[in-house]
Amino acid sequence: MAQYRRVSGSVGLITLINPPVNALSAKVRQGIVDTVQRALGDSEVKSVVICGQGGVFCGGADIKEFGGLMTGPPLIPMIHSIEAVDKPVVAAIEGVALGGGLEVALGCHYRIAHAKARLGLPEVTLGLLPAAGGSQRLPRLIGVPAALDLITTGRHVTAAEALRLGIVDEVTNQNTVDVAVKFALSVEGRQLHSRRLSTTPCPRLDDLDALFEEVMQRVKQSARGAIAPVACVQAVRAAATLPYPQGMEREKELMASIFHSGQARALQYCFFAQRAVGRWSLPTGARWDTSEPRPVRKAAVIGLGTMGRGIVVALAQTGLSVVAVESQGQQLAQAKQAVSGMLERGARRRGVAPQPDLVRYTQSLRDVAEADLVIEAVFENMALKREIFKQLDAVCKPGTLLCTNTSGLDVDQLASQTRHPELVVGMHFFAPAHVMKLLEVVYGPRSSPQAVATAMQLGKKMGKVSVAVGNCRGFVGNRMLKPYMEQANFLLEEGATPELVDQALEEFGFAMGVFRMSDLSGLDVGWRVRQADGLTGPDVTPGQPERSRQGRRYSPVADLVCEQGRFGQKTGRGWYQYEKPGSREAKSDPWLHSFLEGYRARHGLVARRISHQEVQERCLYTMINEGFRILDEGFAAGPEDIDTIYVSGYGWPRHRGGPMFYASMVGLARVLERLEHYHQAHPDVPYLEPCSLLRRLVACGSPPVHKWREVIRSPHSQL
Ligand code: COA
Ligand code: ADP
Repeated sequence: MAQYRRVSGSVGLITLINPPVNALSAKVRQGIVDTVQRALGDSEVKSVVICGQGGVFCGGADIKEFGGLMTGPPLIPMIHSIEAVDKPVVAAIEGVALGGGLEVALGCHYRIAHAKARLGLPEVTLGLLPAAGGSQRLPRLIGVPAALDLITTGRHVTAAEALRLGIVDEVTNQNTVDVAVKFALSVEGRQLHSRRLSTTPCPRLDDLDALFEEVMQRVKQSARGAIAPVACVQAVRAAATLPYPQGMEREKELMASIFHSGQARALQYCFFAQRAVGRWSLPTGARWDTSEPRPVRKAAVIGLGTMGRGIVVALAQTGLSVVAVESQGQQLAQAKQAVSGMLERGARRRGVAPQPDLVRYTQSLRDVAEADLVIEAVFENMALKREIFKQLDAVCKPGTLLCTNTSGLDVDQLASQTRHPELVVGMHFFAPAHVMKLLEVVYGPRSSPQAVATAMQLGKKMGKVSVAVGNCRGFVGNRMLKPYMEQANFLLEEGATPELVDQALEEFGFAMGVFRMSDLSGLDVGWRVRQADGLTGPDVTPGQPERSRQGRRYSPVADLVCEQGRFGQKTGRGWYQYEKPGSREAKSDPWLHSFLEGYRARHGLVARRISHQEVQERCLYTMINEGFRILDEGFAAGPEDIDTIYVSGYGWPRHRGGPMFYASMVGLARVLERLEHYHQAHPDVPYLEPCSLLRRLVACGSPPVHKWREVIRSPHSQL
């Protein structure tokens, strides 16, 4: 709703009320229409200020309304009626003015923002475009190039940038509503014609065609198949080339073409999924999010390799003091230099002073005694990690939370080294840890909800998307990656090249195909794990063919590539070749192709033509199948958790909603049918065997994702 009152004698103050972000629900829209009418009809009133309750102007259209029938007054005429008022209307922007919120502000004649406010048109991130006139008014206000940038990326701008761009007229550190009221008083009686953006032409620009062509090309390239950014460019083009009424028509048409698309549904699902992952309850009835997290004032990190360094930076950037422990002197000195550099660059980017003194470097584990939370990030080696947990148990003060940054080892084994296993959790960061958004918080069977709550809250403070997962091998993300990579290797045996597989996956929308990704992260990592598991080498199971392990199909292709010292980008050779070690541009490697031919010849394999469809189905459906197993076994709370992990940390295209959402869009019956088909063709690949949960869901008529929990009802939740 919206509240109306008269202040300072002649200013009509309209306050939007819909906590927490004053989204423009039907009631709020009705409230605006009614209060604008009141302000118009009040002869004492000479100007109007629109603000939001609770220090937030407006978070935009109510996304929850998108699925159903829209009721209440529509947004476009409402904004026109604000713009048409013949008394100056001033938007007082605190907190955020996003999407429809900014569009309302653009309908006002003046905009005043608080210094900490953020503004933007993020519709593109929800698969939409700013279709309440935003795509037509913003270019008229700030020019085509700047509007294209904001609308196609959806990025939020600070008040300072908004002032520079000309989106707002004034920025204040004072009470924004008071300043806006004073401002409104000062402009009472002014001519408003030039302040109405719908009647203002776009600033002229030479060679508009060339600009749009270049932007369109760039947007298409980075959109990876997403349609909304392209529609956004087309809408801004309409603003630049058509009179306002026709531009609005075009905006409407373009919106209609994407509003009901699968991509918009997927992106809106991602928005809510990301918010839902922090809110599940335990089967015992305990809820971690109602457990009071422990205060963390001092943290420690053990092991300053790539991961440890990134974690130190991420912690220090939240303002925590950090003890950084590294046993090797030379490595410690290098880490100190690297961390200081990263902190300095980060501070510069954020426009704050660097605080290198927050980090204390040491070679002695005893120096972590006063830490409230310790994150271990040494080599991925169970024996070493166990030893460190034993030592930590001895040196840390009572109540210290002990975390491990393992990417898949058993957290409970580490917990068993301590007297307080309830204080042990996993914190699985992704490299580089100060940049990558995802954090898997691993809930061991003996971890307390409070320990998980503390790690989740710390993750949030670090700006991470934190997802609680159960303690199974590889947790959620890496566990699902295994069948995906396995299929990719089998496809090489059957006739594909790394280029073909990567193209098919990139065409699907992945940032990087599986082989380019392996080259980036290093082939040796997986090789070491397979060696430790006793899988590598030709004669693992006497009497078994080389391409089989315990009756299961096994591809030694990656092992053979590693045996050549080809570990990917860091060695300049892997599935591709690189100009020099460390260079990023993957080039086809004739050596690899003839190696594959030789390999196939040695094993009597006849290469066949493999389609993109087969690559996508085999790689993605086995991954999805494993996702169903994880849900069935209770290692993830719901499909939203899996999807959030894949979208935030594994380059899964957001406009496809994550693997589990994607499966529901494809149709579970279809996924099941294809898995059955491929399993029949490859009965020695257990990952292809459809999981029982998938079968149960299909038998229940393939309910939508948000209803899966009713079918899962895992009797053995691990969370
Ligand atoms: N419509 C409906 N609900 C919304 C909403 C919107 N436009 N914006 C936020 N919410 C809800 C969230 O779902 C969340 O609900 P929950 O508490 O039930 O989970 C709650 O408001 C708080 O949002 P959250 O994102 O957790 O808070 P925040 O302070 O971190 O961020 C915003 C606030 C406004 C920056 C962020 O919510 C946002 O980006 N919203 C979407 C803005 C947008 O895209 N608007 C254009 C719509 S077309
Ligand atoms: P990453 O995968 O993060 O690059 P590495 O495995 O290369 O990690 O680095 C782990 C770091 O942990 C190394 O710098 C190593 O010297 C350090 N380390 C190993 N054991 C200990 C220990 N007991 N105490 C402190 N640091 C250790």
